[in-house]
Amino acid sequence: MNPRRALVTGGAGFLGSHLCDALLGEGYSVVAADNLLTGRQSNLDHLRHESCFELRQVDITQPFDCGEVDYVFHFACPASPVDYTVHGIATLQVGSLGTFHALEIARKYGAKYLVSSTSECYGDPLEHPQKETYWGNVNPIGPRSVYDEAKRFTEAVTMAYHRYHQVDIRIARIFNTYGPRMQLNDGRVIPNFMKQALRGEDLTVYGDGSQTRSFCYVRDEIEGLLRLAKSTEHLPVNIGNPTEFTIVECARRVLAVTGSKSKLRYEPLPQDDPKQRCPDITKARTLLRWEPKTDLETGLRLSLDYFRAAAHL
Ligand SMILES: NC(=O)c1ccc[n+]([C@@H]2O[C@H](COP(=O)([O-])OP(=O)(O)OC[C@H]3O[C@@H](n4cnc5c(N)ncnc54)[C@H](O)[C@@H]3O)[C@@H](O)[C@H]2O)c1
Repeated sequence: MNPRRALVTGGAGFLGSHLCDALLGEGYSVVAADNLLTGRQSNLDHLRHESCFELRQVDITQPFDCGEVDYVFHFACPASPVDYTVHGIATLQVGSLGTFHALEIARKYGAKYLVSSTSECYGDPLEHPQKETYWGNVNPIGPRSVYDEAKRFTEAVTMAYHRYHQVDIRIARIFNTYGPRMQLNDGRVIPNFMKQALRGEDLTVYGDGSQTRSFCYVRDEIEGLLRLAKSTEHLPVNIGNPTEFTIVECARRVLAVTGSKSKLRYEPLPQDDPKQRCPDITKARTLLRWEPKTDLETGLRLSLDYFRAAAHL
C-alpha cells in the first residue's frame, strides 16, 4: 500500500517545517509547497536525502496541483509582524487566493484539510481568556489588519468550503509559538529578546511591559495540531499555552536562561498592540486530550543552541 501523502503549504517556514518532520515521523509522504517568501530552504536541509519528502517552490496564490494527497495542511502565510507589515498585499493574497487554491486541492482529491489560523482573529480582545466562541475585537483598517483580516477571511472561506462543498476541514487557532527555526529578526517577543540577550544588547520592552502574552513551545504546538488533524471537529480550536507572562517577566526568564547581563530598555507601544492574549484551551483539553507540557524556561533552554548559533552568524 502506498504511504498516505500530505501537502504542507508554507512547509519551509518555522511551523511548516516542524510539521513536515512530524508527518514524516507518522509515516506520511510529504510534499511542501513554498515560495520562500518568509521561509528558508535551510529549515528543510535535514530532509534533502529523505525519499518520502519533496519541496516544490511554488507561489500558492497561483493555481497549482501537487498530485493526489490525503491531507492538506495549509500553513502558508507571513506570520510575524515584521513580515506581514513588509508583505502586506502578499499576506492578503495568500490568505484569500492561496486559501482557495489549497481548498480546491482538498476538494479535488477528497483530502482532509487543516488550516493554521491565529489568535489574531480575536484582535485586541475584550474577553479574557479567549474562547473559540468569542468573535473578536479587530481593527479592520489598522496596520495589523492585513494579517488579522486575511486570517479571518481564511476561516470564512474554509467554513464555506465545508458548508457548500463538504470539504472535511479543521481550523486551528494558533497562539504565540516559539522554538528553533524561528527567524531571529521577525519582531516577535522571544526571538527579539533571545537575540538581544545573546548579543549583550538591551532588551526592548514596548510600553511599560505589563501587557501579557502566553508562549507555546513548538513541540507542544505540533502535537496539538496533529491531534486536531486526527479529530472530527470542524469548528475552530485554540492551540496554545494558557500560562500568562507579562513582557517584563518574559524578559527576566530570557536573561536567566541565557545568563546575560543585558538591561531592559522601554519604548512606546506600537499601534493596536493587544494588551492581553491568552487562550482558553478547555476545548482542546476535553476534545483532543491535549495540553502543553513544556514550561517557558524549559522551552527557552531547548531553543538556546539554535538562537545562540543564529545570533552569532
Ligand atoms: N508562529 C506562530 O506563533 C503562529 C501563531 C499563529 C498563527 N500562525 C500561523 O501558522 C502559519 C505558519 O507560521 P510561521 O510562524 O511558520 O511563519 P513563517 O513565515 O515561518 O512560515 C510561513 C511560510 O509560508 C510561505 N509562504 C508565504 N506566502 C506564500 C505563498 N504565496 N506561496 C507559498 N508559500 C508561501 C513562506 O515562505 C513561509 O515559508 C501561518 O499561517 C501563521 O499565520 C503562526
